[in-house]
Amino acid sequence: MKADLYIRHIGQLATCRPPDGKLPLKGSGMNQLEIIENGALACLAGEIILVGTTADVDRQIDLVNRAVVIDADDKVVTPGLIDPHTHPVFAKTREDEFEMRNMGKSYMEIAQAGGGIRNSTRALRETSKDALYDNAKKYLDLFLQYGTTTIEAKSGYGLTTQDEIKQLEVIQMLSENHALDLIPTFLGAHEIPDEYRDDKDAYVELIINEMIPVVAERNLAVFSDVFCEKGVFELEESERIQVAAKEHGLELKFHADEIVNLGGAQLAAKLGAVSADHLVYISEEGIAAMAEAGTMAVMLPGTSFYLDLRDYAPARRMIEAGVPLALSTDFNPGSSATVSLQMIMTLAGNKLKMSTNEIINAVTINSACALKQEKNIGSIEPGKKADIVVWNVSNLKQLPYFYAINQVEKTIKNGRVVYDSQGTK
Ligand code: NIG
Ligand code: FE
Repeated sequence: MKADLYIRHIGQLATCRPPDGKLPLKGSGMNQLEIIENGALACLAGEIILVGTTADVDRQIDLVNRAVVIDADDKVVTPGLIDPHTHPVFAKTREDEFEMRNMGKSYMEIAQAGGGIRNSTRALRETSKDALYDNAKKYLDLFLQYGTTTIEAKSGYGLTTQDEIKQLEVIQMLSENHALDLIPTFLGAHEIPDEYRDDKDAYVELIINEMIPVVAERNLAVFSDVFCEKGVFELEESERIQVAAKEHGLELKFHADEIVNLGGAQLAAKLGAVSADHLVYISEEGIAAMAEAGTMAVMLPGTSFYLDLRDYAPARRMIEAGVPLALSTDFNPGSSATVSLQMIMTLAGNKLKMSTNEIINAVTINSACALKQEKNIGSIEPGKKADIVVWNVSNLKQLPYFYAINQVEKTIKNGRVVYDSQGTK
């Protein structure tokens, strides 16, 4: 078999291939992980073609001229990480708010006083597409360096039809030109902008009658999301918006039960959403509804950590109840200023009480499911994209164990080395 990329002598190769072919992984299935010791994998033209032990794959491949051969030196290999919830296109950072929170203000107090998302909205409206592109590009480079090969990317800092389109167009340009893949989500219902504070209903109507139809018609988003939260978009407003989005062919995601329990999880389940995200204050009824509907839960423990909240989402309860889990950074300039899924893996261990196998599945194959990309990415098996990470650790348990250290040795995207910690690209 011809190959142009060959990685061999892998101490532990985590394939993240579902044992019975059923996806997303849930319940005890989340803890099952196929690990090939002394593994190897071969790729051709950006696609994985062969996976097995080094001895097996050695026998079967025929390297083409100038093939890249990587000796993994008994280290660890996983699929490229997938981050299913990010807000990476913004005009400026918000370090003043981080300090204000540390001095005693809460995230919601800052938002209600005109800061928070509205702060980012004012800045984005004044910023050109080129400047937004350049700013986001820096972070996309960092995602690759930290082992992430696909992200979901939301709008939601424009909050006018024109500025939401501007933000989605930047996401599209980035996906076309950058090695990282971006899956776009429309989040016009992220906050009520300054000019509609006294007439929220008019803003909801604008989203439904103007924004959603153009975004869908111009194919600028795959998903529609809403910040379903007390004082932001209430349940019935969220429902109206998401019903309209669904009618226009968009798949659904929710920011649900993040700050108080509103029942956003039940609404997400009722509308057949692909995922509900955050869920720190999800109720037992919400968990049951999501399990029943097959709606995935995207856990964002970095947000609880960064906002210094006491509570984390009840991940163990959700796994027990059969809700499939994915993990994400929630990268954004307000509530979670990191691109590192490695940090999230550590928090998933010590705050969400997830096992290493569950964590690895939740940043790869289950994250692919949360983006409806499981046919292309998320596992190491023939036919999938050659999105792969070689880790500078000697076993898989060291991935969540070390923290705040970048452990990526090489990131491979579409069969090409796009980051090498040794410096060669
Ligand atoms: O997921 N909760 C709403 N949205 C983001 C925060 C965005 C911001 O503060 O800019 C979140 O936490
Ligand atoms: Fe978010």
